[in-house]
Amino acid sequence: MAETTVTTEQKPLALIKRAVELYRDGGTERLKRGAEEYLRINTPLLEKPQYQDRRIDNERRWEYIETHIEPEHESVLDIGCAEGVFCARAAECGLYAVGVDSDDESIRIARNTHSGDTAAFRAQEITPETVSDLPESDIVLFLTVHHHWVSAFGFESAAEMIRMLCEKSDLFVYEPPGDRYLGSETNDLPQPLSEYYADLFREIVGDDARIVATYTSSYTGAGREDPIFIVDTSER
Ligand SMILES: C[S@@+](CC[C@H](N)C(=O)[O-])C[C@H]1O[C@@H](n2cnc3c(N)ncnc32)[C@H](O)[C@@H]1O
Repeated sequence: MAETTVTTEQKPLALIKRAVELYRDGGTERLKRGAEEYLRINTPLLEKPQYQDRRIDNERRWEYIETHIEPEHESVLDIGCAEGVFCARAAECGLYAVGVDSDDESIRIARNTHSGDTAAFRAQEITPETVSDLPESDIVLFLTVHHHWVSAFGFESAAEMIRMLCEKSDLFVYEPPGDRYLGSETNDLPQPLSEYYADLFREIVGDDARIVATYTSSYTGAGREDPIFIVDTSER
């Protein structure tokens, strides 16, 4: 559905109509994003909400990830790191952490909040052309970024980019979006999302990438559950 912005000049009825459209399009989660977007545009003094504050599961996700950090792991690369919360955690564990995000404002916040000797942040849009320039890292975090890449570069290019990241890591942490079946024509599939994405990931990367653990995590508490896969990519 095309994005339309409701301005302050429009009557309350138009706002309600737009809210109903958003709800039909993507349920409460879409409605909430629409409301945030409306407030951002119409009340410019409000700061853009930080991504990390929209998630209720950062602690839980970090617990899952931390369980799989081994003594031989020295570095973490967080792709689409937003405000850098996981890089900060990794740095606290003594790992050298690099976070990359295309959003300048998120990187500014990440630097102001977390930069130190062992966490560094880079503002960069990773593209099919630049993904190979990323540094190798023992652990690569790829958390809720896949759908952005599919939208921006198409399914096949995104898949190729994921293969490249797996080659650069020994442990790959993959969180696809828990509200859609990427690569499928329809969202109306009987297969549980976790199974679907486990199959899709193996299809994309190959069987030599071994999924060693699967978790699910509650995104914002609004019903969306994201699968999280911990993948041993050391044999690739
Ligand atoms: C849904 S947020 C996920 C943030 C974080 N990984 C997490 O799960 O908490 C996606 C992030 O990826 C970033 N992003 C999307 N496409 C990107 C690209 N091509 N290169 C770098 N960052 C990108 C966005 O700016 C956004 O901060």
